[in-house]
Amino acid sequence: MGIRAKFNILLALVWIVGVVALFLVSSLVIDRLAKDDVVQTARLMMEGATGARNYTATELEPLLKRDIKTAFHPQIVASYSAKKSFAALHSAYPDYSYSEVALNPTNPDDRANDWQSDIINDFRTHPDKREAVVQRATPMGPVLDLAKPIVNGPACLVCHSTPQAAPATMVAVYGTNNGFGWRPNEVIGAQIVSVPVTDAAQRAGQIRGVFILPFTAVFAVLFVLINIVLNVVVISPVEKITKVVEAVSLGDIDAPEYVRAGSDQIARLANAINLMRRSLSQAIRMLGS
Ligand code: HEC
Repeated sequence: MGIRAKFNILLALVWIVGVVALFLVSSLVIDRLAKDDVVQTARLMMEGATGARNYTATELEPLLKRDIKTAFHPQIVASYSAKKSFAALHSAYPDYSYSEVALNPTNPDDRANDWQSDIINDFRTHPDKREAVVQRATPMGPVLDLAKPIVNGPACLVCHSTPQAAPATMVAVYGTNNGFGWRPNEVIGAQIVSVPVTDAAQRAGQIRGVFILPFTAVFAVLFVLINIVLNVVVISPVEKITKVVEAVSLGDIDAPEYVRAGSDQIARLANAINLMRRSLSQAIRMLGS
């Protein structure tokens, strides 16, 4: 194997090790930042929904409660407000969603599905847990779910304990079968914000490219430069010197010398070969005379 091939294999190995190392190290940092970014977005959305909930409970409920005996407006329900106010965001960004789901919901649309029930049951078995972050695979790509437990407090029992205790106007709309029998302080459901991970993962991939591309470009330039320098400084002179030595060894003692200016090792080798060739031709002439 020639010198050039050896150098190029070495360079290729260093490049591969460099790209792999850069990929692993940058991934540690970038993937962490991307996930933090998604969780932060989910937290902001959760706070927005909780804000709508609190606004309803403190400002709307006292107003709407006044005529609850004659008419039931779902706008009085904090959960309803949060879902409705989030709908605007969801229609602009369909991949982002918010739900308030329960195992035994008042509105059947709010019934928890399989993965949502898993989250609620996890909160039920771990009452101290205040938040859950779960990544889930979907046909549209991975989605991050941020969930908070919903606990049945004393104020909720009016409408969620028994149909007899609930406002008649509410029972007239929702019936007597769903959303009752919630026990005090029981985790009955969860607020769940879902955020797609794909965008953040794509950005992470682009940032990774920003590290790896310049590294590869520098290597490509280095590769070309090293090959040129190797050719001019070592390979081409060594080939010429070899030709002289081969010619002399075959008896052509007057073969033209290869003269190389400078004082590097190759120039010194060329000079030494030239001196040896001259001494040899002199010795042969003396022998012949
Ligand atoms: C005035 C009656 C009333 C009170 C008080 C009330 N809710 Fe509700 N709640 C409802 C109704 C009605 C719905 C269904 C709204 C809809 O159509 O989306 C509902 C829905 C919910 C939902 C969504 C799941 C479902 O059942 O459809 C949750 C979660 C919820 N309530 C929790 C609570 C909690 C926690 C409290 C106490 C802090 C509370 N509710 C107090 C009437 C009430």
